[in-house]
Amino acid sequence: MAGVLAGKKGIIFGALDERSLAWHVAERCLAEGASLVLTNTDAAIQLGTIADLAAARQLPLVACDATKIEDIQALFARAQEHLGGKIDFVLHAVAQSMNLRRHKPYEQAGYSYYQQTLDISALSLHKILSVAMQMDAIAEGGSVVALSYLASERYFYGYNDMADAKAMLESIARQMGALYGRKRGVRVNIVSQSPTPTKAGSSWREIEFFYRYADHLSPLGNADADDCAGVCVALFSDLMKRVTMQTIYSDGGFGRTILTPELVDDYREKV
Ligand SMILES: NC(=O)c1ccc[n+]([C@@H]2O[C@H](COP(=O)([O-])OP(=O)(O)OC[C@H]3O[C@@H](n4cnc5c(N)ncnc54)[C@H](O)[C@@H]3O)[C@@H](O)[C@H]2O)c1
Repeated sequence: MAGVLAGKKGIIFGALDERSLAWHVAERCLAEGASLVLTNTDAAIQLGTIADLAAARQLPLVACDATKIEDIQALFARAQEHLGGKIDFVLHAVAQSMNLRRHKPYEQAGYSYYQQTLDISALSLHKILSVAMQMDAIAEGGSVVALSYLASERYFYGYNDMADAKAMLESIARQMGALYGRKRGVRVNIVSQSPTPTKAGSSWREIEFFYRYADHLSPLGNADADDCAGVCVALFSDLMKRVTMQTIYSDGGFGRTILTPELVDDYREKV
């Protein structure tokens, strides 16, 4: 099949249901000619609808808890078997914070939850890349993308311990990008996405307000899940073969905008 990913083999972490960013990335990769293995935790496979996507598109679905080294090893082994060779690209779309879900204020975080947030949402990328390197499972010139949010670098009220996880995730991407790039020419990048109504997105209490605010402030409006998928596909393709260790903003320009005339008008009425 023709397409910018024709002949490429990928692993997609994190599709839970049809709202998931990873679901949209998977659909877009298939449209561009890629072969895929889908993965998520056992619980997510039971509770979500990822099995429907796998069945409809006849894709292998392999359970893997991205915090467990043995699971990741088994996943890379099975994915290479299914796809018939080394992996060309990996999407990391994995995050969870019980502090956010339980609406714990940041300064009163539960520390076991906090550690779990970092383990699931950031260290999992380190583990995936470390296992891939040890197994030499990613092909020369391969591409790994992890999804992040701007709260990694700027204060966002209510984003809680996930802001710390995203800062760590982005740092891991840079460090591993340098190491894996030299070792095997593998690229590691971050896509920093607009707020998007998904299960993980909805754990943030302020998401409804913030979704509208970000849409209002962004010169191009919020990037939706399909926009995110387009950026990921570009990064997986050879079109971006010398781009690595970068954070690419799929956010309609939000992160570069401080003030708009509309905001001045809104605020003027309140002071
Ligand atoms: N939705 C947004 O507003 C938004 C914005 C920017 C970045 N992101 C990021 O995009 C990524 C995907 O999130 P989403 O918004 O599509 O929500 P989602 O809830 O659909 O996806 C999160 C996924 O993480 C998976 N997961 C949780 N624990 C796991 C584990 N131990 N092992 C493997 N997988 C595990 C879940 O099962 C789920 O599929 C996350 O990293 C999220 O932080 C989301």
